[in-house]
Amino acid sequence: MTQTALPAIEPRPDLLDPAETMSIDELRQLQLTRLQDVLQRVYDNVPHYRAAFDNIGVHPSDCKTLEDLRHFPTTTKADLRANYQFGLFTVPRQQIARLHASSGTTGQPTVVGYTRGDLDRWAGLVARSIRAAGGRPGDVAHIAYGYGLFTGGLGAHYGAEALGCTVVPVSGGMTERQVRLIQDFRPRIIMVTPSYFLAILDEMEHQGIDPASTSLEVGVFGAEPWTDKMRAEIESRAAVHAVDIYGLSEVMGPGVAQECVETKDGLHIWEDHFLPEILDPISGDPVPDGEVGELVFTTLTREAMPVIRYRTRDLTRLEPGTARPTFRRMGRITGRSDDMMIIRGVNVFPTQIEEETLLVEGLSPHFVCVLRRPGRMDQMVVQVEARESVPTDAYGALARDLAGRVKRNIGVTTGVEVVPPGTLERSVGKIKRIIDERQLG
Ligand code: DLL
Repeated sequence: MTQTALPAIEPRPDLLDPAETMSIDELRQLQLTRLQDVLQRVYDNVPHYRAAFDNIGVHPSDCKTLEDLRHFPTTTKADLRANYQFGLFTVPRQQIARLHASSGTTGQPTVVGYTRGDLDRWAGLVARSIRAAGGRPGDVAHIAYGYGLFTGGLGAHYGAEALGCTVVPVSGGMTERQVRLIQDFRPRIIMVTPSYFLAILDEMEHQGIDPASTSLEVGVFGAEPWTDKMRAEIESRAAVHAVDIYGLSEVMGPGVAQECVETKDGLHIWEDHFLPEILDPISGDPVPDGEVGELVFTTLTREAMPVIRYRTRDLTRLEPGTARPTFRRMGRITGRSDDMMIIRGVNVFPTQIEEETLLVEGLSPHFVCVLRRPGRMDQMVVQVEARESVPTDAYGALARDLAGRVKRNIGVTTGVEVVPPGTLERSVGKIKRIIDERQLG
């Protein structure tokens, strides 16, 4: 792959929110005040939290330092389901300005609610995130996250508006039209899942447009795990800065944490609003900064539906801040604990397969992991598309190359099927990398 020069981004420290430059001591004090307030609010207004606190004998007044949070109970997705629809709201339904819901692959959706104030704070945090990604007031922002109950589209939309952008609310899908609108409206920013951006790039090339020739300079990519290898692929093909945005609907939506364009070294958590912890996913005990575990958030400023120690199931580690020294960074998400495949005793995440795939020249980033159980043992088959220029008689060698790397570097034996470009289904939103065929038949 040839290296394409990336556009220069002018730093604008004058645009930062005051919170982005406060001292760590000031931040800790603000967090403690907000934490004490939110613990009291949920205890007074939400029967679930009152019962959960009473059950283990803790009271909001026991929280005298930030460390005391560890004595409070955690909250899980099961708690959200059990309190469907509005059981976790702290305010009367009439004060809820918007609802979002996560689709949930099984059964009951989970609902989240926002007051008018919550929506304004959310927009402000997404604006802060886009700015950290290199977006500026006055830019045209093309939003290709899905609009609807998913928080991606509307979250990005109001954030870009709050920053002062000209917003193009395209939503996901109709890839030819995405390309046309990028050509016609000349956006500088695109907000989209990285996997769908790849589909847009493929469509550009299909139409004979060089992706590096468009007006795009900044891509704010999230909602699914992706790797530094994928960043390199996108940046060299499209000449856009590819930066990571993280969030989840239970905690707010996009804009909980954001990678800064000047360092591209993991995501700064907007800690003035979200207090992170990392817990051992099995024991639930806190692990120190720097060690990998399950990311857990307490929302400090949400009005309608605060969450206390919400277990995200996302695995990462906390590191000190860099481009925004006030805030800690989280490493890019390796995967959710739910996405972990256990193949003959070895834990494997699709992101690890992505890294190996992109090291094989001739293989594209379009792949899925198919899980089968032909006998008594689980088997993984990676189906991966070759790049356009590769002749079919080279597919066998590419498959052997990838299988060898996966064996050497991850330690699992995997089947690899190299398929022609365009064979695998494209996602228009969050990609599904794992196809589990073990339950079938
Ligand atoms: O995906 C919110 C969002 C929209 C974030 C647009 C970024 C951009 P949910 O649908 O509730 O919300 O899914 C949340 O998606 O727990 C992670 O497992 C995953 N996820 C989100 N962002 C990232 C990311 C939105 N940057 C779940 N890297 C989270 C890896 C991510 N995983």
